[in-house]
Amino acid sequence: MIIAVDGPTASGKGTISKALAAHYGLPHLDTGLLYRAVGWQCAVIGGDPDDPTTALAATSFPDDLLLEERLRTEATGGLASRVSVHPAVRQALYDRQRAFALQPGGAVLDGRDIGTVIAPEAAPKLFVTASVEARAQRRWHEMHARGEAPTLAEIEDDLRRRDERDRNRTAAPLMPAPDAYVLDTSMLDRAAAISAAIAVVDGTAG
Ligand code: DC
Repeated sequence: MIIAVDGPTASGKGTISKALAAHYGLPHLDTGLLYRAVGWQCAVIGGDPDDPTTALAATSFPDDLLLEERLRTEATGGLASRVSVHPAVRQALYDRQRAFALQPGGAVLDGRDIGTVIAPEAAPKLFVTASVEARAQRRWHEMHARGEAPTLAEIEDDLRRRDERDRNRTAAPLMPAPDAYVLDTSMLDRAAAISAAIAVVDGTAG
């Protein structure tokens, strides 16, 4: 079984994907991490993430970069969103994601284009979403726990900018696949969101 989980930043898709992987005993790939590694590598080589040639060169990052905690910061997320608009970058990361999806026994992948581009044959597909306000609240709590101190308004602005870029790019824009189940987690806590996702996978969701 290939489970595709797409959705915007801080929608809860990462938490849901990890929980689904544990529940069904499947391997999990956070594909956003690959784009974050490219964004990070761009900064390391002193390149411009908006330049397609530089961003493409940054796709040959060392594998152990994926373990780097700093990939998870908001700043790296912003770089990832910028490099991800380039079709050549998306193409360079395609084979790795596709091979992960096709491994025997199945897999859970989360990202922006899993159900539309990487594994259109995936079933089930979830599109996890939440209001900007709910997502900003969650991000605020995570960031303050890490000792970062942005205001709620700054986080909302950043989320809106990232959503806008991810939704309006020409290459594989963020959008639900026609056969995706849209799960809005705005009013759900972590446990309720995970139960709802399991119900979708089990085919018992309303
Ligand atoms: O899920 P995330 O916040 O780690 O993703 C960071 C950026 O990477 C996101 O703004 C857009 C890009 N991305 C993408 O274009 N396609 C994916 N499958 C995953 C992430």
